Amino acid sequence: MQEARIIDGVALAAQIDEEVTAVVSQLEEKSGKRPHLAVVVVGEDPASQIYVANKVRRCKKVGIDSKELRYSADLSEAELLSIIDDLSNDDDIHGILLQLPLPKGMDTHKVIHAINPAKDVDGFHPLNFGRFMAGLDHALAPCTPQGCLRLLRMVVDDFEGKDATVIGCSNIVGKPMAELLLQQGCSVTSVHHLSRDIEGKCRAADIIVAAAGSPHLVKADWVKPGAVIIDVGINRLRDLGKGSGIVGDVDFDEVKKVASAITPVPGGVGPQTISYLLVNTVRAFNNQLDIVPDEKLGL
Ligand code: GUN
Repeated sequence: MQEARIIDGVALAAQIDEEVTAVVSQLEEKSGKRPHLAVVVVGEDPASQIYVANKVRRCKKVGIDSKELRYSADLSEAELLSIIDDLSNDDDIHGILLQLPLPKGMDTHKVIHAINPAKDVDGFHPLNFGRFMAGLDHALAPCTPQGCLRLLRMVVDDFEGKDATVIGCSNIVGKPMAELLLQQGCSVTSVHHLSRDIEGKCRAADIIVAAAGSPHLVKADWVKPGAVIIDVGINRLRDLGKGSGIVGDVDFDEVKKVASAITPVPGGVGPQTISYLLVNTVRAFNNQLDIVPDEKLGL
């Protein structure tokens, strides 16, 4: 059997950057303004520092203004709530990204709830999440699952009636991913650590999205020949005491011999979280300025 097509997430991110750049420049001509994103990071989590630097860099590349607000872990929850409130009421800020995780002791849900839903570019506010899960609109849906769907569209022509298995049920990836696939007409199975026969549920699937946070969990004999595999895992080898670099939730070298298409790690899903942060920031800007877009960005 032919080896799987490797779905090129770096190329897709470059394409989305071009699409966003063009739209931002049109918006600036029309409105005299550019979208402006505030990125808030609290504490010294090393991975968060890297993610935030990358977010700011990609904003700059596409012409989105950004400002980074960094605070030490001893910031109080009340102080953070006041910062979020100021940003929520600032007409010059169109998007607010609160980098997670927050330091221990802070109530993440309470702080997310304080974000103005119109500026919630992560799609984590209960109002946006609820609207999305109810299928009411896609305006501000979580970024990583939108990126996964866009990667899937590169290799899947018709989703209707396909069987999809999503491994992981987080609010950031697993749950919204399952909902997006349902909206495309897939039959979706969500599996988690209490599920029985995870292998069988994967073997039945035409599409597998692995977001378990478990290195090389998905083996070749879990995969139906010809299935499409999206690997959301970012597992640091250093954390596992196995050198450096990152690996996904899928045993890539073996699974690529069975699947028809697969995303690599790195270079697959990773860059799309920021791709859709940019897209959501433009959508939030349009909504706040009552701009009806000429074209559907990101779809
Ligand atoms: N931390 C890990 N993933 C994410 C994400 O998608 N958004 C935010 N805000 N924080 C994260």
